[in-house]
Order: sequence, then structure tokens, then C-alpha cells
Amino acid sequence: MTDTVTAPFGRRLSEITEARDSGGYRVFSALDSRGPEPQPGQFYMLAADRGWGGADGRPYLSRAFAAAGAETGRRGVRIDFLAEAVGPGTDRLTALEPGDGLWIVGPLGRSFSPPRELSPDAAGAILVGGGIGVATLAIWRRALAAAGVPTRTLLGFRDRRHSGGLELFDCSEIRLASEDGHAGHQGYVTDLLAVMLEGDDAASAAVYACGPPAMLETVRELCADRGVAAELAMEAPMACGFGACFGCAVPLADGGFMRLCVDGPVVNAAEVETALVAGAGH
Ligand SMILES: Cc1cc2nc3c(=O)[nH]c(=O)nc-3n(C[C@H](O)[C@H](O)[C@H](O)COP(=O)(O)OP(=O)(O)OC[C@H]3O[C@@H](n4cnc5c(N)ncnc54)[C@H](O)[C@@H]3O)c2cc1C
Ligand code: FES
Repeated sequence: MTDTVTAPFGRRLSEITEARDSGGYRVFSALDSRGPEPQPGQFYMLAADRGWGGADGRPYLSRAFAAAGAETGRRGVRIDFLAEAVGPGTDRLTALEPGDGLWIVGPLGRSFSPPRELSPDAAGAILVGGGIGVATLAIWRRALAAAGVPTRTLLGFRDRRHSGGLELFDCSEIRLASEDGHAGHQGYVTDLLAVMLEGDDAASAAVYACGPPAMLETVRELCADRGVAAELAMEAPMACGFGACFGCAVPLADGGFMRLCVDGPVVNAAEVETALVAGAGH
């Protein structure tokens, strides 16, 4: 379930097979005829085959995207991505249609660890997702379900426009929070986590979180205070995605730095000094 898969050398051209709206986000699927299936938590560097590099040269570099789903079939691996348009790269990627070409490098980075690997007492998992960060948790929830691991899922969104991807979880038991109150608890998803961790069985689950830096930092603090094992899928500005540029360095709790693209993006919460990474989140 957690063997990290390494990317074939170089970038390769995949084909968009499906693209649709999902709430305020966009889901698109690419058929990768040559690559291995990604492990949950891993990501790809993406660039559209056409319209990449406008009049002002942007977008120029590939953009990092978590795999939100994957399935191997006769013609290759179908990889699902969930995207929010926030700038030139994501504007172009959310405009992709079936038949379009997509350059991919990946799967990259470190995947999630099963609960028992994080803590011998952790028989189950609590997933905590915020905004577009729910993408990587969708593929992880499916893998946990397939392995028979009891999983509780908490997802939070700012408002209706900044929400989506729920159907990728293939699960009806999701507890929601929204800042504007349009769905579930009005407030932060971390409010739900704090209540859940007050329960007697708090230490019997490992926490897995992905979302904006402030949300991840609250998760990190809550879990540290209560001695609950946790992994965070973090983001940092990534220019290469495979360890060459050092643009994604984040500070470690015991000094020094890690390159999030090769030593993450999934990190043990106890390893990092903070989840408040400059330049990440939108
Ligand atoms: C490992 C990883 C996985 C990711 N997975 C997804 C995903 O599944 N779906 C998705 O929509 N996005 C994902 N992102 C974020 C995505 O890569 C950035 O939003 C994207 O690079 C923005 O490109 P742009 O040209 O559209 O906007 P830009 O002009 O580059 O930036 C627009 C806005 O996005 C912010 N931003 C820029 N880079 C990042 C970044 N790396 N992380 C967060 N905010 C950023 C900027 O501060 C700015 O506010 C991921 C990032 C990483 C590092
Ligand atoms: S993105 Fe270049 S070293 Fe991590």
C-alpha cells in the first residue's frame, strides 16, 4: 500500500479522456499509456500540450498536481486530477477537454503510510481535508477502504464556489464544515477534528491531512498536543518536482531543511517545524 513508485525518466504525453465540473472545481482524467500507477499521496508535474506559454510567456514551468484517483486498465493508467483555477497554469489545465494532450512527469514524491506504521495503536484513520487539498485524500480513502481500514473523513470548504470533489471519495459518510455555513458545521474542519480527538479512542487512529497551511498547522498542533500520530500532505512552490531546484525547501523540527518534492509531499507531522510554508496555499 505504501511502496513509493518512481517516475520513468523524462516527461511523456498523455491524453485527456474526461473533463467535468465538480462544484467550484474541475476534475480531469489523463490516460498514461507508459507510466506506473501512483501511490496515494504522490503527485505529477503537469503542462498542457497546447497553449502553455502565452504572449507574456506564462505559464512556463509545469505545475504540481496530486493524483486524486488512479486505475490501471488495458490501455494504461487513468489518473484523475482535481483542480482549482487560481492563475495562468491552473486556468489552462481547467480548460482541458477530452482529446487534448497533457505532458506529465511522475508519479513523484513520498506516499502516505498506513496507520499501524505511524503508530502501533492506530487501527484506523481520520482524514482531514481543506479546499483543493481534498484531492490527495480521495485516492487515500479508497486505498484504505480497499485494505479494510476503518476511516472517518472530515472535509472543510470556504464557501460553495471553493468546494468540490466529494464524489471522488466514493463514500457517503463524510462530515462537512464550511466557513459560510452552506454545508455541515459552520466553521473550520479543524473544529470537527478537535471534537473527535477529545473522544476516548483518539489515539486509536492516525490523522492524515491536506489543505491550506493554516489548517495544516492547526492539525499539527492538535495532534502534537494529544500525542496522535499524523501525516501532512504539504505544498510549497515547486519549479522542478524532482529535487533539482531547492525551491520547495521547508524547515525541519530538529534543524535543517527537506526538499518537499522528494522527502514529501507527505511528511510526518512531528518532522516539520511548521506547516506555515511561505508561497503555498491560495
Ligand atoms: C505537491 C503539490 C500538489 C498540488 N496538488 C494540487 C491539486 O491537486 N489541485 C490544485 O488545484 N492545485 C494543486 N497544487 C497547487 C498548484 O500546483 C498551484 O496552485 C499552481 O502551481 C498554481 O499555478 P498557476 O499558474 O495557476 O498560479 P500561480 O500564478 O503560480 O499562482 C496563483 C496563486 O496560487 C498560489 N500558489 C502558487 N503556487 C502554489 C503552490 N505550490 N501551492 C499553493 N499555492 C500556490 C500563489 O500564491 C497565488 O496566490 C499542488 C501543489 C503542490 C506543491
Ligand atoms: S521542486 Fe525543485 S527541488 Fe523540489
